[in-house]
Amino acid sequence: MDPLDTLGRPLHDLRISVTDRCNFRCVYCMPKEIFGKDFQFLPRAEILTFEEIERLVRIFVGLGVQKIRLTGGEPLVRRDLERLVEKLAALGDLDLTLTTNGSLLAQKANALAAAGLRRITVSLDSLDDATFRTMNDVDFPVAKVLAGIEAARAAGLAPIKINMVTKRGVNESSIVPMARYFKGTGMTLRFIEFMDVGSTNGWRLDDVVPAREIVALIDREMPLEPMAPAYRGEVANRYRYKDGSGEIGIIASVTQPFCADCTRARLSADGSLYTCLFATQGHDLRALVRGDATDEEIAKAIAAVWTERTDRYSELRSGDTAGLQKIEMSFIGG
Ligand code: GTP
Ligand code: 5AD
Ligand code: SF4
Ligand code: SF4
Repeated sequence: MDPLDTLGRPLHDLRISVTDRCNFRCVYCMPKEIFGKDFQFLPRAEILTFEEIERLVRIFVGLGVQKIRLTGGEPLVRRDLERLVEKLAALGDLDLTLTTNGSLLAQKANALAAAGLRRITVSLDSLDDATFRTMNDVDFPVAKVLAGIEAARAAGLAPIKINMVTKRGVNESSIVPMARYFKGTGMTLRFIEFMDVGSTNGWRLDDVVPAREIVALIDREMPLEPMAPAYRGEVANRYRYKDGSGEIGIIASVTQPFCADCTRARLSADGSLYTCLFATQGHDLRALVRGDATDEEIAKAIAAVWTERTDRYSELRSGDTAGLQKIEMSFIGG
């Protein structure tokens, strides 16, 4: 029997962070003042090997997981990531995907597709080069990410989703141009409300551009209508263009939390299991994997954690939760 948590939610999705490193320093995720030269990233020995990840995925699949998303940091900075994709693709009929900042995609898209990756999500916060460089904070040009997206398309990765984090006063003016650019391309643009993940990004409620405001902005120029979710517990609220030229999504974790149907677990690069994006503590699976635990024992341990799960952070978000020492986004992979 697949485990249910205390709120009756099954374990369907596993997000796997393959590295805590990233070549960007997005202001809302890895602020330079914190993630500077002296920042201690995980030493290699502490990071799960591809073989260890594969074994854990096999066990998670036995507990009901159907969807695997590779994340980081930036997953494509992990060397030979396509080798892991190949291993996971061989495990059977899984929805296997990856969220990337797109910087290395032009080089990697073909290898990933050949290894069995089906679809991909690319983060892109603006089409305006100056705004994009300010947001990634490493002066990375937007043209290279667009070339990466094109390479992914040419490699047959589909559907492609584009994630745009919206931050008040920073890239608000990019919302409508982004919608115009991706409308009619077959790619789904999704806007993400800036979230209070971690404890270093200086989050304030005033910096959030609420979902309804984003929809209204786009609807004024390109009329929209709401759509039903693609699957139970989908993170994004979907809207389609009334002229039939595609859809957008809004991930409104702040103004319209979606914990009630949250079926996601997260595995950090060092092998800890987190049952919420806003968790303060993980459960060490690496010790089990590197010890002499059998697959059955590990499955039991995971099921025990899931069965006790009570998380619904976004629904409880308040002044009291703001001060918690939460895990960083770049560590847990979003
Ligand atoms: P699809 O399968 O394509 O629908 O993917 P997804 O939306 O689950 O994944 P993606 O990595 O594109 O996530 C988009 C954004 O939603 C990221 O900023 C995530 O951090 C955020 N997100 C995903 N899952 C959760 C969640 O369980 N809780 C919260 N609060 N945010 C989430
Ligand atoms: N709020 C909302 N989204 C964020 N992301 C990273 N940090 C935040 C944050 N504080 C996004 C990334 C990526 C996804 C995995 O999470 O841009 O698209
Ligand atoms: Fe890197 Fe993604 Fe975080 Fe930006 S949001 S710093 S690309 S992990
Ligand atoms: Fe799931 Fe936690 Fe996000 Fe709620 S806040 S949707 S419980 S990960």
